[in-house]
Amino acid sequence: MPDTGFSIKKVLKYDRVVSTNDVCLELIEKGEKEGTAVIALSQTGGRGRRGSVWVSPENAGIYLSFIMSAPQTYPPGLVPLALALSTLRCVKPRAGGASIKWPNDVLLNGKKVAGCLAETRKKFIVAGIGVNLNNEPLSFPDPIKMTATSLKIETGQTQDREMFSVLLLSELGSVFSGLEKTGPTVLLKELRASCSTLGTSRQYLGKDGPATAVARDIDSSGGLIIERSDGKIEVIYSGE
Ligand code: BTN
Repeated sequence: MPDTGFSIKKVLKYDRVVSTNDVCLELIEKGEKEGTAVIALSQTGGRGRRGSVWVSPENAGIYLSFIMSAPQTYPPGLVPLALALSTLRCVKPRAGGASIKWPNDVLLNGKKVAGCLAETRKKFIVAGIGVNLNNEPLSFPDPIKMTATSLKIETGQTQDREMFSVLLLSELGSVFSGLEKTGPTVLLKELRASCSTLGTSRQYLGKDGPATAVARDIDSSGGLIIERSDGKIEVIYSGE
């Protein structure tokens, strides 16, 4: 029987690329299959969700993407959460105050230390993770400066990029193969315990436009269950 379980089989390392997600998307066009990861020392056009820029200076952070098959046995909405959880597991032993901001940010003391970008191409998902490791406070451009941080800023300690990448690849392996083998129950339990979004009140873009709501729970397909101020319960799926 062929081995269909999740694993990273190959890691391609680059000094500088436009975006590690773009490299994976191009590789898919050339016939590359799941299990290939791309790591770069810097990105000239690092991308975030909804057209945002991911600041990617040389040697300061982790810029990692990998190709996975679109999941067959669990909902695709769990992929961003699984990426965030894998990253959180690497951040937590290095700094206090780490949490997940649904659906795919990792925060340290309320500021963003890592973000994830999942993009679909053909029957694959390109999963990209950026982690701010050794960025200095003044290195973030203006609007981002207010909301971004790095492990070095929060702990005062320089982080070893190589070691962090090895650990991240290993956590990705265990989170995604756990999802395949045992389903989402374990992942959801850990996520709920680590998600600082739950219990907080925010503006969300729901079915009837923007509304203030309290995040109550994460459902089994990765959606955020929110309770609007008029008492209505809604599930949102993409962090609007
Ligand atoms: C976000 O927070 O909006 C997502 C940020 C994702 C950044 C990573 S860095 C590696 C990969 N390559 C990219 O261009 N983006 C992702």
